[in-house]
Amino acid sequence: MATQRLGIIMNGVTGRMGLNQHLVRSIVAIRKQGGVLLSNGDRVMPDPILVGRNAERVAALAKQYGIERSTSDLDAALKNPDDTVFFDAATTQMRTDLLTKAINAGKHVYCEKPISDQLDKALAVAKLAKEKGIKHGVVQDKLFLPGLRKIQLLNESGFFGKILSVRGEFGYWVFEGDWGQPAQRPSWNYRKADGGGIILDMLCHWRYVLDNLFGNVKAVSCLGATHIPSRIDENGKAYKADVDDAAYATFELEGGVIAQINSSWVTRVKRDDLVTFHDDGTHGSAVAGLTRCYTQHRVNTPRPVWNPDEPQTMKFQDQWEEMPDNTVYDNGFKVQWEGFIRHLVEDAPWKFDLLEGAKGVQLAELGLKSWAERRWLDVPELKV
Ligand SMILES: NC(=O)c1ccc[n+]([C@@H]2O[C@H](COP(=O)([O-])OP(=O)(O)OC[C@H]3O[C@@H](n4cnc5c(N)ncnc54)[C@H](O)[C@@H]3O)[C@@H](O)[C@H]2O)c1
Repeated sequence: MATQRLGIIMNGVTGRMGLNQHLVRSIVAIRKQGGVLLSNGDRVMPDPILVGRNAERVAALAKQYGIERSTSDLDAALKNPDDTVFFDAATTQMRTDLLTKAINAGKHVYCEKPISDQLDKALAVAKLAKEKGIKHGVVQDKLFLPGLRKIQLLNESGFFGKILSVRGEFGYWVFEGDWGQPAQRPSWNYRKADGGGIILDMLCHWRYVLDNLFGNVKAVSCLGATHIPSRIDENGKAYKADVDDAAYATFELEGGVIAQINSSWVTRVKRDDLVTFHDDGTHGSAVAGLTRCYTQHRVNTPRPVWNPDEPQTMKFQDQWEEMPDNTVYDNGFKVQWEGFIRHLVEDAPWKFDLLEGAKGVQLAELGLKSWAERRWLDVPELKV
């Protein structure tokens, strides 16, 4: 069994996502397990070169994780024909320019979402990728979470009957940064000029979650809010939060399914997980979090009676059955990386390309427009 090398130029690995999910939990983990197994028994070993503005910082990271190569010179890295893939998890604002440069240098590309903060730029880079015939992918990590994979299993088994509606609750309290509690998210998330805003961040995710699990998104109505207009940044300085920190959205899906998803960095959690999806179908309902999923079949559905004169006697939380973990669920980012590497090397099927990424940007853009214009908007089909 042979092992082949795959040279990957990794940009943005000093950031939260780049470091934790892509470098440590994905590429370093894949290297430790001996590479990605192909269908013929061969393996692919990623050989990354870490790229960042600060040469010393990326060199230190490389050393820490047993990686031989790092640089602060992206242009030089792109000139190396032995590194055939470019990956980007740095700032959203620069993404399409970097992808364009890499594609023009003949590289395959893989990147974080959103692929841009503007649909026209997202489509232009998807078009370029198609014209140049390179392989491309975008992170759609939520689909690889155990909780959502369980929803997919319920779908495939016909558990729901006809799906009627989906209610998603995403969010948690992000500290303002004052009274001794530093914020848990970088301050750029709250500045428009830096690609911030929860609509741009989360509607990209909801697009692929809804399209893939419940039905293609046909229309959107979205109300955003900036509940907390001033926050404290990483350096202890007050700044103006000029983008939405909560979004209250409703979607019409193919097949008549209604989806409502609240996304908020300004809510305190009293639910099983930081995101939950409650799905009601004619034959059964399910509630999935990141990891767990609970079901209630029509034959197990209790008969509550509305009586405001008596305290509730039914324990609704106890009336659901948890789905078992019948398989081992690896880190979702890693699973997606492995899928992309198989797509690169043995042409394995791959759906999550830049056009799918553009669809996320499209929904975010329409969500913002719906909010600004206070109206429902249809979601046109995208093509490149
Ligand atoms: N898939 C997900 O669930 C998910 C979650 C969070 C963030 N993201 C996306 O990942 C990307 C990074 O987000 P993050 O939370 O890791 O942010 P972060 O602020 O932690 O990291 C940003 C990275 O970009 C680099 N960078 C910033 N400005 C730069 C510049 N001018 N030139 C070169 N490099 C620059 C930083 O050095 C750092 O490596 C964003 O596009 C974000 O939307 C995705």
